[in-house]
Amino acid sequence: MQEWLKTAVFYEIYPQSFRDSNGDGIGDFNGIIEKLDYIKELGCNAIWMNPCYDSPFRDAGYDVRDYKKTAERYGTVEDLERLFSKVHEKGMHILLDLVPGHTSEEHEWFQMSGQSAANEYSERYIWTDSWFQRAEGLPYIAGERERSGAYVINFFKCQPALNYGFLNPKEHWQKPMDHPACLATREAMADVMRYWLARGCDGFRVDMADSLVKNDDAEGSGTCAVWRDLFDRVCAEYPEAVFVSEWNKPESAIGKAGFQMDFFLDWYGNGYHLLMRDYDDTGRNDSFFKAESGRHIRDFMDEYLPKYNAVKDKGLYCLITGNHDMVRAAYGLDERELKLAYSFLFTMPGAPFIYYGDEIGMRYLSLPGKEGGYTRTGSRTPMQWNDGPNHGFSEADAEHLYLPTDGRDDAPTVESQQKRADSLYHTVKELLRIRKEEPAFARHDNLELVSAPAESRSFAYRRDNLIMLCNPSGHTETLPVDGKGWERIYAVGGGACRDKEFVLEAQSFVICRG
Ligand code: NOJ
Repeated sequence: MQEWLKTAVFYEIYPQSFRDSNGDGIGDFNGIIEKLDYIKELGCNAIWMNPCYDSPFRDAGYDVRDYKKTAERYGTVEDLERLFSKVHEKGMHILLDLVPGHTSEEHEWFQMSGQSAANEYSERYIWTDSWFQRAEGLPYIAGERERSGAYVINFFKCQPALNYGFLNPKEHWQKPMDHPACLATREAMADVMRYWLARGCDGFRVDMADSLVKNDDAEGSGTCAVWRDLFDRVCAEYPEAVFVSEWNKPESAIGKAGFQMDFFLDWYGNGYHLLMRDYDDTGRNDSFFKAESGRHIRDFMDEYLPKYNAVKDKGLYCLITGNHDMVRAAYGLDERELKLAYSFLFTMPGAPFIYYGDEIGMRYLSLPGKEGGYTRTGSRTPMQWNDGPNHGFSEADAEHLYLPTDGRDDAPTVESQQKRADSLYHTVKELLRIRKEEPAFARHDNLELVSAPAESRSFAYRRDNLIMLCNPSGHTETLPVDGKGWERIYAVGGGACRDKEFVLEAQSFVICRG
């Protein structure tokens, strides 16, 4: 694993909504350059930027029309290269978003692939042999193109699946993974990676990384083999390149495919959901960090620990504050609850990922869908920098903004949070400062759950010489741990050691050295 990853803290930027430098109402590369010092000062040393390529934007850019062109609305390839160098000048790193599983239906490869005359791209996508033959078991579209065949899609209708083959082909139209056309798809994607790595990006967050080989087995053996081959090809030339997968199966992604990092993602009913966003039909949030929740940390740990333990000495299983696909954390957690949740997220192993605006508790807005965002749109609104027009996001008229800003008087902004000493922003900054200073946080194989008694909601965990203690509940609780001689280095709320016990005040998080 690359050395810098051990102390990496990522900041996710949704380029549409971060900072508009030219007053056209939408964020851009130069706007991001303006704000690099802000990101660095917060304590992040790496960036993941959502797709910024040429696209019809039917899925916010996850529908790529040309992998080697930037979307005009964000700037030119030269602007992006300038962003890469500015990031590096500041000692930071930046990952682009790679979308290897599908393209836009407007991509030239797909235009060619849909023609009835055979050509170089005929098998670049997955087509059945005739217009009335279904692609059994896979989502597909028929009746759209000149070619007699139905094609497989990967996500929305506008996103035809690229052809990496089938693990065990059963029908004539299903190609084996080593079919020349499938190998050509691989090579085309390796070429895209090289193109951006040569221009200075440090690697990629990989969209739907598990989706390449169709009818794969439960471990994703076929897809893992494709990734290993891709990494062999690309990393021979760019050994410093890093890759983080959208997979949520580190045993496969890190253990078998060779990614350095994988995300613990928010999938309904899973451990992440139970930690921060467990909404019922009435909108009530019963997740662990709600003061009045009935959840126990085991609900999360039972899922997290086996996966963590499987890869802890090979790569980073990363926790996130949120992302562009999720309802914002502040939707269901108040400031105190967010402080506890972030204290936990930023003291766990793996590189933390902070979704832009989560550090100030930006809210989820109820908005009509934009660019295929649907209910995700409310988490993609412009960054709130200050209390001026458009919260400092853009000089455009408010009605020309990509999305509206939070119009409420008490909308959190960077400016207001920086002024208030006990704000969420300052908690995040302080946590990241400690994370950077303590060597225990640079090792990622050292998590030990010390105490999580069934009868209370409090728990404690250790990473080498640091002990983290958390009581998310609304009343004082006691943990059976002996904290004699421990030195307290951080606290939200408070707690103290007493006769081989640790008493934690309501809604507290304490870090001790000991
Ligand atoms: C996951 C991305 O995070 C999401 O935004 C996108 O819609 C799908 N993959 C399809 O690419």
